[in-house]
Amino acid sequence: MTGRPRSRRGFLGLLGGMGVAAAIGVELPRLVAPSQPGQLLRSQILLPRPFQVPLPIPPVLVPRTDATTDYYDVTQRVATQEILPGVPTEIWGYEGRFPGPTIVSRSGRRTVVRHRNRLPVPTVVHLHGGHTPATSDGYPTDLILPAGTGYPTSRADAMAADPRAIRTHETRVYDYPLHQRAATLWYHDHRMDFNAPSIWRGLAGFHLVHDQEEQALPLPDGPRDIPLMITDRSFAADGSLHYPSIDPTLRHTPGVYDGYRQGVLGDVVVVNGAPWPTLEVDAVRYRFRILNASNARRYRLTLNPQPPGGSGLVQIGSDGGLLQRPVPHDAIDIAPAERFDVVIDFGRYRPGDRVTLLNLLGSGTTRHVMQFHVARSAPDDSHVPGQLARIEKLHPAQAGTTRDFLFRDGGDGGWEINGEPFSPTRISAAPRIDEVEIWRFTTDFHHPIHLHLVQFQILGRNDAEPGPYDSGWKDTIDLRPAEQAAVIVRFADYKGRFVFHCHNLEHEDMAMMANFEIV
Ligand code: C2O
Ligand code: CU
Ligand code: CU
Repeated sequence: MTGRPRSRRGFLGLLGGMGVAAAIGVELPRLVAPSQPGQLLRSQILLPRPFQVPLPIPPVLVPRTDATTDYYDVTQRVATQEILPGVPTEIWGYEGRFPGPTIVSRSGRRTVVRHRNRLPVPTVVHLHGGHTPATSDGYPTDLILPAGTGYPTSRADAMAADPRAIRTHETRVYDYPLHQRAATLWYHDHRMDFNAPSIWRGLAGFHLVHDQEEQALPLPDGPRDIPLMITDRSFAADGSLHYPSIDPTLRHTPGVYDGYRQGVLGDVVVVNGAPWPTLEVDAVRYRFRILNASNARRYRLTLNPQPPGGSGLVQIGSDGGLLQRPVPHDAIDIAPAERFDVVIDFGRYRPGDRVTLLNLLGSGTTRHVMQFHVARSAPDDSHVPGQLARIEKLHPAQAGTTRDFLFRDGGDGGWEINGEPFSPTRISAAPRIDEVEIWRFTTDFHHPIHLHLVQFQILGRNDAEPGPYDSGWKDTIDLRPAEQAAVIVRFADYKGRFVFHCHNLEHEDMAMMANFEIV
């Protein structure tokens, strides 16, 4: 989307005035929107006061390089990390840390990551937002099996009736061409049926892509370009991560106890692995790459106090990279897996000020996210230009095919897309390579819908314009209960089988996923 207003008539025409629900022959569910998509799981340990711990910045991995390629080695292992001050917590981490180390790539420069699985269960690595060939995309049954003999049994194993699965033992090499714009990507586990508890234990990290278009801009960079991975977690009395798994070994039975199938919400907001951290800043502009890596929780982020005149959060990028023009916000709604790239100008505050990043959708302990301490004035040669990037606007007239997908409670403990739970062998859409399509989504509940491989543009919601957080290229769209939206997308470059799914991780594990195959 260009940021330019679209005509309302354009979108009404698209839906033929009937609405998506009528078009696919279902009643739109009538729901009272719950404030949060899930059930709060309370910690059983004394929680620290907020703003006591400095914000950690995940280390950047150093590659081996040759003329064309950067090579990385990452080991997935069990480790102990102090998340709550003075409390050792067992995590599952890339290189033994949560978040995993950050990988930084240049657009168009091949990046090869060799993952070694030292965890007690199979894993899969997906680069979220990556324009990646199917063989390296991290298909949910393309398992890296752990060392040792006993292969865990699970529904995924029964589903080993997936004849196309490519399993490897102990290691797997993921090959990323990265022919894509500068953007904030992230990598995380994607093992079928057990994704939610594995990511909850720590299997997530940033992968940033830079390009020339971005680097020519006078945006804050270097130490003033900071990734923020926002998550919520709960802690058991012994300091371990608390999660309502039916099978805590994550080897046999997937799923969570009744009451949590709508989503698991923690009561501790953990940013870059620290609870309600604090960051000392100069009174200058900073760029924050905000990622909501929570399983289910949505946030409405705002600065308290607002700077004089408001619009404290200036959005410069979305999931798929820079916007055409900056969009100023007082608050930003962010659903699981979405990224918002924002500039905050602390020069609008006075040295000594403390500025809290609040979550207006939270209450009690989840009302606070982190705090900035404006320490001192400093020179600032950055600014946010009125024009950031050129974005090719996709137009509905380019689309040859329109498809409808209903995301809904399956009623038997699972979640469905068009009435079906996930199966690796069912292809729900077969777009032709390089063609443009319109995909329309309808929901019963909060569902952040994510497509692998592609970035799309949002055409509209509920027969009206896109929302305030819909600008730019997106790979995840936050849909609220009983909402409809249309997106336009080109399925370029790579044939093969990819998934699309709800990124509420409990919904995803409970089968709200489907395949598209580019032919
Ligand atoms: Cu972030 Cu299929 O995932
Ligand atoms: Cu993805
Ligand atoms: Cu969902």
